[in-house]
Amino acid sequence: MSNDNTQRTVTVSIQRFDPDVDKKPHMQDYQVEMTKGMTILDALHEIKTHQDGSVTYRRSCRHGICGSCAMLINGRNTLACKTPLIDEVGHKNRVTLGPLPYLPIIKDMVVDRTTFWEQYLRVKPWLIPPDDIPEKEFRMSKEEVNALHDAESCIMCGACYSSCTVIGLNKHYVGPHALLKAFMRVMDPRDEAPGQRLADLDGADGVYRCHTVFNCIDACPKGLNPTQAIETLRKLAQKRKKFETTRRKRQQHLHEPIPAK
Ligand code: F3S
Repeated sequence: MSNDNTQRTVTVSIQRFDPDVDKKPHMQDYQVEMTKGMTILDALHEIKTHQDGSVTYRRSCRHGICGSCAMLINGRNTLACKTPLIDEVGHKNRVTLGPLPYLPIIKDMVVDRTTFWEQYLRVKPWLIPPDDIPEKEFRMSKEEVNALHDAESCIMCGACYSSCTVIGLNKHYVGPHALLKAFMRVMDPRDEAPGQRLADLDGADGVYRCHTVFNCIDACPKGLNPTQAIETLRKLAQKRKKFETTRRKRQQHLHEPIPAK
């Protein structure tokens, strides 16, 4: 018998739904021997491998990089692979798992992310470079790189998108994931089209549809702040022309070394 007090039997309660046989989702409990360091994803793997192969969920990297295993854990969207089981079971020795909300369920915890990706593509998430591409490299300042850093670490897990109550009401809203990416492109001095991007986001389903609910910040497993990015985009949209002019001037010097301070 181990002295490790993490080792005990816990209940993993999973929302099940198989469209071939179920009319609506229902909960099903599984008993799992919790071991030291076990994550929610490990527990799911244990269930699928040894108890019930029909339990269905997405996973890939197991290291918080791919974003595949985002799900609802005890009512909060986060990554199963980064969540220790012991942190969630509490004194009731029980954890409840379900699919990301506001997205159609395909099976169990696998959701249809079509609208999520459609909204993402709406913001043209790729870089639109200037015609005059330098022979060697773009020279960006440390401040410019830092401004993009957080947005760059988004893994597109969908935790923010499906925690946003505005998405629950209006699937036309672009959403925090796409707006964070749009922010990154708008702030990138190499990008040729910040004015057009800001104009595109200025409509009814863009930056003004955000009601500053903040759920996206709470849900983000990378600690990012989509709300602040959306707020910045709102401000920039109001002075779009001036911002475009500043960008054009900046792009004339993108091939030059950054002067030392
Ligand atoms: Fe939704 Fe985040 Fe805005 S939760 S309403 S995108 S602050």
